[in-house]
Amino acid sequence: MRSAEWYGGNDRNSYIHRAWMRRGLPADAFDGRPHIAIANTASDLTPCNAHLNEVAESVKSGIYQAGGIALNLPVVSLGETQVRPTAMLWRNMAAMAIEEMLRANPIDGVVLLGGCDKTIPSLLMAASSVDLPAVVVPGGPMLTGTFRGVPLGCGTDVWKLSEEVRAGTLSAAEFTRSESSMIRSRGHCNTMGTASTMGLLAEVLGMTLPGIAGTPAPDSRLLEMSHETGVLIVEMVQKERRPSTVLSRGSFLNAIVALAALGGSTNAVVHLLAIAGRLGIELTQDDFDTVGSEVPLLVDLLPAGRFLMDDFYRAGGLHAVLTEIRDLLDPAALTVTGRPLAEYLDSALVYDREVIRARTSPLQEAAGIAVLYGNLAPDGAVIKPAAASPELLQHRGPAVVFDSVEDLHARLDDPGLEVTADSVLVLRGCGPKGYPGMPEVANMPLPQKLLELGVRDMVRICDGRMSGTAYGTVVLHVAPEAAAGGPLSLVRTGDVIVLDVPARQLYVDIPDAELLARAPSAATVEAFAAPRRGWEKLYVDTVGQANTGADLDFLLGSSGDRVSRESH
Ligand code: FES
Ligand code: MG
Repeated sequence: MRSAEWYGGNDRNSYIHRAWMRRGLPADAFDGRPHIAIANTASDLTPCNAHLNEVAESVKSGIYQAGGIALNLPVVSLGETQVRPTAMLWRNMAAMAIEEMLRANPIDGVVLLGGCDKTIPSLLMAASSVDLPAVVVPGGPMLTGTFRGVPLGCGTDVWKLSEEVRAGTLSAAEFTRSESSMIRSRGHCNTMGTASTMGLLAEVLGMTLPGIAGTPAPDSRLLEMSHETGVLIVEMVQKERRPSTVLSRGSFLNAIVALAALGGSTNAVVHLLAIAGRLGIELTQDDFDTVGSEVPLLVDLLPAGRFLMDDFYRAGGLHAVLTEIRDLLDPAALTVTGRPLAEYLDSALVYDREVIRARTSPLQEAAGIAVLYGNLAPDGAVIKPAAASPELLQHRGPAVVFDSVEDLHARLDDPGLEVTADSVLVLRGCGPKGYPGMPEVANMPLPQKLLELGVRDMVRICDGRMSGTAYGTVVLHVAPEAAAGGPLSLVRTGDVIVLDVPARQLYVDIPDAELLARAPSAATVEAFAAPRRGWEKLYVDTVGQANTGADLDFLLGSSGDRVSRESH
């Protein structure tokens, strides 16, 4: 046991390590039984994860039942809706802090409690870099809330309702009244946004107890399976079953296939790339297109469809979907139980064909991520055709360029702005380095005057991200970003932009030489972040681009679980 390096001896240092832990722990706590950390992202400022302390209690009882010692370890938590400038700026910081605390402490394994968007990715990145036996408990989605008798999807309906207010079809007072109806219970967003996506993909990767992902946060079965997870982690330590044992390229390709079938968030692209990067598993942005783009959409959930996570769970949940696409999955990819994921699919049934479609009648034929290239995105950009308007997937129109979110908000609704439904809205300076942190601003609001004419979608292009709960014909993650010298910084208002998703192209229709002979304007450069100290400085200096997962360059790979030198 790794913990024996701390507790196993009879010298002064082992005395110190043991004595300070003896506050209720029995003497046999140090006789060589596994010490398991519960990396807990519960926080009142991460409301989606606030219930995880209760989940931790169930995990704890499972750990004790199996003969382990359970230790609550509060870790950096990120509340997607609360943290500014964007929770994504802190994903790598959380991952680094969690990695270091797992390695520095006398533990043999870890249970990772997450929920809200960035929490499961940061936990998985950390656990992969330490490579201790690790298992995720996804905190689960909230129950469906209703407003005026109609279900409200968190996130997605905020975008919809706020556009209704701007279009004059919903009063400001009614809009405010819907606030308290949207968030009905504990748990994370109940659309197929980033939190739902990453909780489900954690299971597809093999990193959860099979069958747990998607269980609603208030559901008793979540506590039951949390208890079982506590039992499981003790076995995992005994069998030395680590992230590097469980995860393979096949696990990630399975996650890409599932991402498409689920209609999951585009944010999963950067998160999966970042997790693979910590394990040294070869995975590229192009894999998402090659492996996933032809996979049919089988799940009718917001933002691509109609239903919510509660309906998804009732309809049979993740395993029911995976059964439909079983032939596309790597049958050898393992889970934390030591058995392949495929083994768990035999008994899955679909209980509601409205919510989970048969392979023969999908919601959409080819629903995965498309990766676009061209003189605007030499290192690629992504689009989720399932969330886009079919008629805009091949489009040609003049650019209307904004240098920052502030510039966008200042000018978008100006009646004098030269913009039509055919225009292409371009927003730059929103990549990892530019903002910094790559915020979810790519789904720009539409100009008021066009909304009033009934326009509900336009082609939009950005080097930032889009909320997993958003929708529209939005080209995201343009790489290199403008602030890293990408040609996006050189586009001017009036340039004709061509988007051709079937041909995987995104370009400005001017000769490359002419485009590259330009220099970014002073206003463009001024909008890029230029932090002078602290995390933001470290981040901007070392962050990679979206197409490789936007991790810090020195955090790629693993340092393993080596035990460091003594502290006294
Ligand atoms: Fe936490 Fe959506 S805000 S999951
Ligand atoms: Mg989000």
